[in-house]
Amino acid sequence: MQSSSRRNFIKTLSAASALAATETIARPFSQVAPAYIPNLKKISPNDKIRFATIGMGIQGNFDTRAALRNPDVELVAVADLYNGRLEHAKSEYGNGKELFTTRDHREILARPDIDAVLVVTPDHWHDHITIAALKAGKNVYCEKPMVQHLNEGKAVIDAWKKSGKTMQVGSQRISSAAFQEAKRLVQTGEIGAINYIESTNDRFSAGGAWNYSIPPDASTQTVDWDRFLGDAPKHPFDAKRFFRWRNYKDYGTGVAGDLFIHLITGVHYVTDTMGPTRIFSSGNLAYWKDGRDVPDVMSCIMDYPQTDQHSAFQMVLRVNFANAGKINDATRIIGNEGEIRFSENNLVLTKHKLPQAPGYGGYDSFFTFTPEVQAEFVKQYDAQYPPETRTAEPVKEVKFEAPKDDDAHAKHFADFFKNVREGSQGTIEDPVFGFRAAAPVLACNQSYFEQKVIHWDPVTMTQKNPATATGKKAPTRTPAKKTVATAKTTAGKS
Ligand SMILES: NC(=O)c1ccc[n+]([C@@H]2O[C@H](COP(=O)([O-])OP(=O)(O)OC[C@H]3O[C@@H](n4cnc5c(N)ncnc54)[C@H](O)[C@@H]3O)[C@@H](O)[C@H]2O)c1
Repeated sequence: MQSSSRRNFIKTLSAASALAATETIARPFSQVAPAYIPNLKKISPNDKIRFATIGMGIQGNFDTRAALRNPDVELVAVADLYNGRLEHAKSEYGNGKELFTTRDHREILARPDIDAVLVVTPDHWHDHITIAALKAGKNVYCEKPMVQHLNEGKAVIDAWKKSGKTMQVGSQRISSAAFQEAKRLVQTGEIGAINYIESTNDRFSAGGAWNYSIPPDASTQTVDWDRFLGDAPKHPFDAKRFFRWRNYKDYGTGVAGDLFIHLITGVHYVTDTMGPTRIFSSGNLAYWKDGRDVPDVMSCIMDYPQTDQHSAFQMVLRVNFANAGKINDATRIIGNEGEIRFSENNLVLTKHKLPQAPGYGGYDSFFTFTPEVQAEFVKQYDAQYPPETRTAEPVKEVKFEAPKDDDAHAKHFADFFKNVREGSQGTIEDPVFGFRAAAPVLACNQSYFEQKVIHWDPVTMTQKNPATATGKKAPTRTPAKKTVATAKTTAGKS
């Protein structure tokens, strides 16, 4: 049910939204001056927020369900490029009503009664749809990584700032109780100065290596292949590329964009950092030689310089999709007085503070001294280190267990919807935060493909040594290919 304030809100917006959306439909990637619809009015607490999901694949379904676990929100439309998923969405979310479905996301952006969109497409579409949605006056929840390449982040940030709309980037784990507790522990100095962060995320299965099932009816009739390609290089229809897009750098962001991003986002949230200044990665396609052009083993080292918020630390990340050994993943934030180790949704804080006195004996050079020198050593040591400086605090382990019903995903959406209602831009993962977290992973890819260290300015969000066009397998785009085929609309009948 729409309240009268809501109807007025829609009326106020409809003329402008329709104009902006028409422009967008006519020239999807054109350089026309943006016609932004600012956050003119808050949505009253009694109004339902009406949202649409653009990209109803695996995560599109999980996101939609998490969004719907919040009160007073309603799914009203879905865009996707595979007919089967539009059909599935109708039966899954229609609730007896006809759910509006389309292959063309611009039809959704043109509807003035839609307040928010979830952008859950493959990575190469994130920036285009997000910018168009903000221009059309929509609030945007965009999946991680916010953009596919380093040079795309600022345009999204600019569009968000100009629009006045709410935006949330979708690394939902930072809304978990465990990450909130980790932030509290780090900020209150429980582990001292952070010096090293490490995480591994290994797998050994076809699904784990992104070889998701391909529906047997996949064809150019059921899939809008031209629209899928978007600004990626032209390629004949290939169901593997469509349903397993993560395996190709034209559409995805590899293990860095898929997996490193979650940890980096968490670390940025916990430490209040702006990001690393040097990024180097190395890897290999070791096992999944199935036509993919991204590595299945990758390690990365990032240097975070000292700032007012934190000490200098190093972050080391690894993914190995061919780990046939015992997989024993760990994510640890290590400081000079303890560590935080994450496990599932919980964490363990281990406190370990050295005594002031260094001690002597054991495996040490002390026994190599002459007796006279040993005696003199002990005399000096006793004078320098009275007994109270010699005892270490006992190593202490504190387990934090998140509440059983902690639902980070729904909470991440709750934060988005709350800000939408308030007409505020203050989400936990706004696009500035989202891009600062995405940039290091995109730099990882660039480092891998161009075989060089990437120098990054996290404050200005600028790459200091720009991409080399001649680099090995450089993931650069071809601007000339920025076209979108005029795909058929399947509104309400796909
Ligand atoms: N936050 C998380 O934990 C998490 C987990 C998984 C995936 N993701 C992110 O979610 C996004 C989608 O991943 P997925 O696993 O759901 O992929 P998927 O292949 O299962 O689904 C993507 C869907 O997008 C549709 N699509 C492609 N281009 C489109 C366009 N222009 N307009 C409308 N629909 C379009 C496709 O038809 C497909 O159904 C990715 O960016 C991924 O990184 C996030």
